[in-house]
Formats: sequence, C-alpha cells, structure tokens
Amino acid sequence: MPTLKSLNAMEILDSRGRPTVWAQCTLDDGAIADASVPSGASTGSAEALELRDGDRNRYRGLGCTKAVANIIGPIQQHLRGRDFTDQQSLDHAMLELDGTTNKSNLGANALLAVSIAFARACAASRTLPLYKHLADIAGHNGQTLPRLTVNLFSGGKHAGGQVCIQDVLLVPVSANTINQGLAMVWAVYQSAAELCLRKYNTRALKADEGGLAPPFASTEDMLKDAVEAITAAGFRPGQDVALAVDVASSHFYENGIYQFDGQRYSSSQMIDLIAGWINRYPLVSVEDALSEDDWANWPALRRAIGEKAMVLGDDFLCTNPARIGRAIESQCANALLLKVNQIGTLSEAAEALRLARSAGWRITISARSGETEDNWLADLSVGWGGDQIKVGSINQSERLAKYNRLLQIESQTHWPVINWPK
Ligand code: PGA
Ligand code: ZN
Repeated sequence: MPTLKSLNAMEILDSRGRPTVWAQCTLDDGAIADASVPSGASTGSAEALELRDGDRNRYRGLGCTKAVANIIGPIQQHLRGRDFTDQQSLDHAMLELDGTTNKSNLGANALLAVSIAFARACAASRTLPLYKHLADIAGHNGQTLPRLTVNLFSGGKHAGGQVCIQDVLLVPVSANTINQGLAMVWAVYQSAAELCLRKYNTRALKADEGGLAPPFASTEDMLKDAVEAITAAGFRPGQDVALAVDVASSHFYENGIYQFDGQRYSSSQMIDLIAGWINRYPLVSVEDALSEDDWANWPALRRAIGEKAMVLGDDFLCTNPARIGRAIESQCANALLLKVNQIGTLSEAAEALRLARSAGWRITISARSGETEDNWLADLSVGWGGDQIKVGSINQSERLAKYNRLLQIESQTHWPVINWPK
C-alpha cells in the first residue's frame, strides 16, 4: 500500500440539512478520494459517538467543525507519511490515537470519513472498483448482489409519530435483478401513493427516508395497506413482493413496558403480536422487535419467529462485535443490520460482519436516515456480500445515489441478486 500523503476535511450538509463530515485522502502515488458520512435519528444507545460542536447558536449545536478540525489536525498529523499495509492498520492507528471505546475523543464521524476515504483511495491506487477492494478487506469472494428492501410506509422517529413502528419495507422477492426489483418496487410505491390519496386524503407526504406517512389509525392498517398496494400493482403478496418491518421498539420502551398503538404491552405480548403479524402478513424480516435493553426476551422472540423470518438486530446490536458475540451466544437473533457509522471504522464493521457470518446469520447492509449523495454503501453491500440492502424509499437523491450505483455495478458484473430465502 502507498504512503498516506495528506488529509482534508469539510463540514457539509446531509439529507435533513444537518451538518456532517466530508473527508479527502491523498496517497503519495497520486491516488485521491473522498467520502462523506451519514447520521442516524433513531439511534441505538450503544452507538459510537458522533462528535457535534454543541454550540447552540450554530445549527442548534449540531455543527461538525470540531470533527473536521480533528481530521485536519491530530488525525492527519498521526497518519501522514506512514505506510499502511492494509485498512486495519490505518483504522487501528486512528483508534489508538482516539483511545476511547466509543470514539468520544476524535468522533466516530471523523474516524469513519477518513476510514472510507482511505479505502477509496486504495481502491483507486489498485485501479479496482470500490466493491472489489472492500471485498478484499472483508475476505469475501462471493459474486452476488443484495436483495432490495425498500421503505414504503414510515412512522416513529422518521415521520410524525402517527404510528409507533418506523418502517414497512417492500422486498421484491421474485426479482432476479436490481433493475427488475426497482421497477417492481416503484410500481407498488405508486399504488400506495394513490391509496393514501383515496383513503387518507393526503398527498404523498414523505418521511426522512422517503416513505409515505399518512395518518394511519394503527400499525395493523399500515400492514394491510401495504398488502393492498402490492395487489393493486398487480403483484402477489409474499410470492412477488414480500414485506419487512423495522419496529424500532427501543423508542417506545420504558421500564419493561412497550407503549404500542396506545396500549401497554409486556415483552411476551410484543412477541405474540409480532408472531401474529407473521401469520397474517407476508413478513420475511422483523428488525428490533424488542428493545435494545430487553436482552432477556430476545431468545424467546427468536424461538417464536426465527424459523419464518429474519430476526434482525439494529439498535440492539449497534454493529458492535461485543454485543453481537453476546447475542450469538444467547441465541437472540439470526441477522445483523450493519451500519458502519454505529461502530466508527470499516475494520471494526468488518469484524462485526465476520462474527455474524460465523454464526450463519444473514446480513442487511443499511444506510442512515440522514444520508448524503455519496454512494459507497452500494459498493459495501456488494463487496461484503450483503443478503439485503436497506437504503430507504425509491425517491430522494441521497437514496437514489445508492440504487443507481447498484444498477451500475449490476450492468458491469451481471452478478445475480441473492436468492430469497437463500
Ligand atoms: P436511523 O434509522 O438511521 O435514524 O438510526 C434507521 C433504522 O433504524 O434502521
Ligand atoms: Zn432500525
């Protein structure tokens, strides 16, 4: 690997108009690349720290000038002129400099921007597409594209909180290509927008990730309407287009109780509720059905639904190898939602991936609700052999940047979309 020559960084704005971090990495062989990092709204409490300025007079404290200064200052000083043999040695050097477990010194946003910009510069230096270089980092040699999971309806923290659960997603299970999957999902989205106008008398008001967010009376209505939209678009629910949900339940859980659709649910009542949905709706994946703190009840959740659907941990696992290890041991889940910025560097996320794979889990590679027009996530989902990719709806340029990059990779590789179920 060539020597790291210099770093640059800048505060830019994400899809919610909030500040985030952009970094650029130059190698001594002339390779130069940049990357920008996303940001969540419905975050897990075990996530690595996103460094914000805290100055209430500027972006209400959300500014990222300190994270940017950390890249241009101490991180650059520490890395400049050094010859990194691989991604891990670069990431390790940054982690050493930070010296904390949650990256609170330099900021996970600063670290990740450098980590990805460096990976891109190395890919350029090797004249490889980014997904191939990322595959090498993770030791992955499969040749598949991920199955799409695309937001249709939104609630929770990404919308006005009309319903508790955060996302109902479409999974085009009968599509053989990304191209075909996108066309199917688009057709269902249009039917759903028409349904919203007819039923709720609302225009297509969209949530953070582009999902439709009419005033559903209940979560059950959200699922019923999704099935209706699939049928109205001419597809067979479950056979052509299935559903996935992100319950994001940590956000309505307190003191052992889930405040769900105006009622109080215990953990076992939540499990029964979700098992009931799986019997009545074509659900193939359920994310964060229980809270990030409800460790004792995740094994029962997995036993109840794990044969029929992915039991996916997002806030619950936080792409954190220690949490994933514990969840594997206690049989809490069977799938990992991987968000690189939850942990802070590519190498640590690759470790999370390897661990989850070693337990036979499926992997969903996910964007955040605050995204940028950068498209590295598409390369990551291919290079790391993701079973699914979760990017948001089929609108808004920060989402489409990833879908369009997947289309590009598909047209170059002609690799098949992973079968469902595998
Ligand atoms: P976030 O939500 O990016 O706002 O954290 C995404 C998700 O919960 O999957
Ligand atoms: Zn989630």
